[in-house]
Amino acid sequence: MADEFDVFVRDLQEQVYEEARREYGEAAYERWRDPQYEGVLEDPDGYGRLTGSCGDTMEIFLRVQGERVAEATYRTDGCGSSAVCGSFAAELARGKTPEEVTDISGETILAVLGGLPEEDRHCAFLAAATLQDALESYMRKPAG
Ligand code: FES
Repeated sequence: MADEFDVFVRDLQEQVYEEARREYGEAAYERWRDPQYEGVLEDPDGYGRLTGSCGDTMEIFLRVQGERVAEATYRTDGCGSSAVCGSFAAELARGKTPEEVTDISGETILAVLGGLPEEDRHCAFLAAATLQDALESYMRKPAG
C-alpha cells in the first residue's frame, strides 16, 4: 500500500516537473530545480528592494570589488519564476562593471531564459528593476 502511494506521488511529481519544463523551458526549469545565488549578503555595497504590482517583493544584494560586481544574490517571497529571474539577474551582474550592469534589463533576462509564459514575463522586469535599484544605491554611496 505504502509502495503504491510512493509510486503515485513520484509519478505525480514527475508530471509536474515535465509540465514545468515544457511551459517554462529548459533554462528556467533547471534553475528552478537548482536555485543559485539565493540569500542575503551582509553589509552589501548595493541593495535594492522592490515590490511588483503582483505584490511580490524582490531584493538584490551586490558586493563590488575593484570596479566589478564580485558577488550578487537575491531574495524573494514571490513565485517560482520570480526566483528564477532573481537568480539570473544576480548571475548576469556577477563579474560586470557598474556600467555593464546598467545594460541588464528584463529583456536581457528573458533572452537568457528563452522567454517566459506571458503571465510570468513581469517577473523578469521586477528582477531587472531591483538589480538597477541595487546598482543605484551603490552609485549613491560616498566613495571610501
Ligand atoms: Fe510577481 Fe512572479 S508573480 S514576481
